[in-house]
Parts: sequence; structure tokens; C-alpha cells
Amino acid sequence: MSKFSSNLSRREFLCAGLAAAALPTVKMKPLKLLILGGTAFLGPHLIEAAQARGHQITLFNRGRTNSHLFPELEKLKGDRDPNKDDGLKSLETAVKDGRTWDAVLDTSAYYPRVVGAAATALKGAVGHYQFISTLSVFADRSVDVFEDSPLAQVEDPATEKVTGATYGGLKALCEAAAEKSMPGQVSNVRPGLIVGPLDTSDRFTWWPQRVAKGGEVIAPGKPDAPIQVIDVRDLAAWCIHLIEQKTVGVFNAVGPGSRVTMQEFLHGCKIVLGSDASFTWMADDFLLENKVRPYTEIPLWIPREGAPYGTAQCQKAMSAGLSFRPLGDTIRDTLTWSQTRADDHRWRAGLASAKEIELLTKWSTKDGE
Ligand SMILES: NC(=O)c1ccc[n+]([C@@H]2O[C@H](COP(=O)([O-])OP(=O)(O)OC[C@H]3O[C@@H](n4cnc5c(N)ncnc54)[C@H](OP(=O)(O)O)[C@@H]3O)[C@@H](O)[C@H]2O)c1
Repeated sequence: MSKFSSNLSRREFLCAGLAAAALPTVKMKPLKLLILGGTAFLGPHLIEAAQARGHQITLFNRGRTNSHLFPELEKLKGDRDPNKDDGLKSLETAVKDGRTWDAVLDTSAYYPRVVGAAATALKGAVGHYQFISTLSVFADRSVDVFEDSPLAQVEDPATEKVTGATYGGLKALCEAAAEKSMPGQVSNVRPGLIVGPLDTSDRFTWWPQRVAKGGEVIAPGKPDAPIQVIDVRDLAAWCIHLIEQKTVGVFNAVGPGSRVTMQEFLHGCKIVLGSDASFTWMADDFLLENKVRPYTEIPLWIPREGAPYGTAQCQKAMSAGLSFRPLGDTIRDTLTWSQTRADDHRWRAGLASAKEIELLTKWSTKDGE
């Protein structure tokens, strides 16, 4: 049984995310912003960041997700898909009536047809199209990726079935559709795993919760595997900053500001949360043989089967103002938020306690140990 240790001091870990200076607080004329989406995870943080800067916001969505939020905002009801219900009619009517926005922030498109439709409906009425894309656009993540690295392809570009195999390629086509519709006026933002308060995917949230609980914790795979996440609040503030600065182009967007390994992350959770957790490292093969699902059942674990780990390079975004809070703050704030949820809420990622115990027992008796 290997026990965990780290060379990173508490102070170093707490500062590991700190790379760039905080965004400048320049007074400016309030902007009119339209968000296509806005009410699940990233959206509410974009709204908070925009409101903190005094901007005016209009939301366009179906009114299904957290419809109680933001009663003070103007809401246009409709569907991104022009073929569904009233489609984009409310937007088209607003534009016909002479409405304009300084920028549209598109958080809710997964295939290019809907990006093209929104951009067409908004033609002449918005000055900047910000599309929230993803780092999944890249063809090969076993190498470091820069903004111009090769992109994933979808076999059928017209498919609207969003799966693990098509998600990245379709998002790349969405980026291209935005740029084609509004050349030179688009910021395509490619976040990695977005984490922090309101993240109900639990793909990060589970770890602070599990480590805080203490006891013997399974540490997956290779201790020196890099982890990359971005705090939703850093991402949101920077997205608004890009719009304020009229900055266009393609940007990878993930933290922390300096390299953090799985081992450092787990140890960081332990020290930040004051936990008595001990870590038992289990090999990729053992976990896979025991049918543990990477990424969802054990969050942040991505076995590479011999291939190296590439990282997403974000110097371009950092030069355009992206900064990162300390990862320790993200861990602590995510746990604090998670503890506001009902005790019996359904975890959408993470290892069930019974399976964890079963695996720890099996690992300790493996090969007659
Ligand atoms: N989470 C991650 O780790 C991660 C990583 C990389 C990239 N991303 C990208 O980040 C983006 C952020 O997603 P989010 O969910 O947090 O954004 P969000 O803006 O907080 O929520 C999604 C919004 O889209 C609306 N919506 C969904 N389907 C719609 C439709 N057919 N027509 C109109 N509105 C619709 C929803 O409202 P209604 O349901 O009421 O319509 C909701 O307001 C996504 O594009 C995702 O690809 C996420």
C-alpha cells in the first residue's frame, strides 16, 4: 500500500493558481449584453461578473432551467433550434424592432446549425459574438495543445447527435460557423473542465467532498499526471473582460496558472480542508480491470494507456487578461457550496462508498500482499 506524500508546501499549493495580475478595474460605459442560455452553471457566473461591472443583460432561453433565477433581467423565450416551438422568433422580433446589443455570449450551442441560425438572426444587431467552445476541440490531447493545434473531425458534420465521439468536432464546427457568420467579430473561448460553485456535474466537486470526509482514499493512476481545471468565476470574469476590450480570436482557457499534478491536487485538498485522509495509489490497470469508469466514477482520472499527457497551453489567454485564483480557494469554495445542497442529492460523479471499500480490500490483498 503506497502512502501519499508531496513536495509542495501548503503556501506553494495555495498560490499554485496565481499566475497573472487581477483584471484592471477601469470605469467604462455599461454594455448591453445578450446571453443565449445563462441559467445553469457558467451562465449565472457570467451574469454576476457582468452585473458587477454595471452591464445590462438580456437572456434568451427556453425557460426550463432554473427559471426562477434573475427575475430582474429581461428574458426572451425561445429555442436555439429554429425548428422547435417558437424557435428564434422572440429574438427576430426584437431585432426587427431595432434592438441592438454590444455582444452576444453563446453558452448553449453544440452543433453548427444553431450557431449559424443565431448569428443570422442577430446580423447587424450585435457587435461581438462570443462562443463558449471547449478544449475537446483538439484531435490529440496526448501532446501539448496550442490554439492552432489540429482539431478533431466528425465523420458526419451534419450530425446533431452529441456524444463523447462527436462533441469536440461539433464544437470546432460551431466555432467556424460563428467566425463565418461574423468574420473578425468573434471570440471563441475554449475552456477545460470548468469547476467551482454551482457545478452540478460533480466531476471536480466530488474530490473536496471525499477528501474532507477523511479515512483511506483511493488515489488513481499516476501521481505525476497533470490536472487542468478552471474556476468558473475566473473564466466568467475574463469572458466579460474580453468583450469589454473588444478582443477577438481563439483562446484556450484552463488553469491552474502553473503545473499541478494529481498528487499535488489531492494533497492540496487534504491540507486546505484540514482532513485526516490518507491516499492509497492504485494502478490504472487495476482500476480498469475492476471496471472503474475514468473521469466520472473517479473524477479527474484520465488513464492514458502508455501515451503521454499533453497539457493545454494558455499563454495567449493570459496575455489577454486571463488570471487564476489559488486552487486552494476553488477547493474550499466548491466544498462550501456543495454542502449547501440537500444531504440526499444525487451525486452525478464519484465512487460509491461500497465500491471504494471493495476496491481497497481487493488492492490490499492483491498478489498476497
Ligand atoms: N462544464 C464544463 O466543464 C465545460 C467545459 C468546457 C466547455 N463547456 C461549455 O460551457 C458551456 C456552458 O454551459 P452551461 O450549461 O454552464 O451554460 P449556462 O448558460 O449556464 O446554461 C445553459 C443554458 O442554455 C439554455 N438552453 C439549453 N438548451 C437550449 C435551447 N435548445 N434553446 C435555448 N436555450 C437553451 C438553458 O436554459 P433552458 O433549459 O431554460 O433553455 C440554460 O440557460 C457549454 O457550451 C459547454 O459546452 C463546459
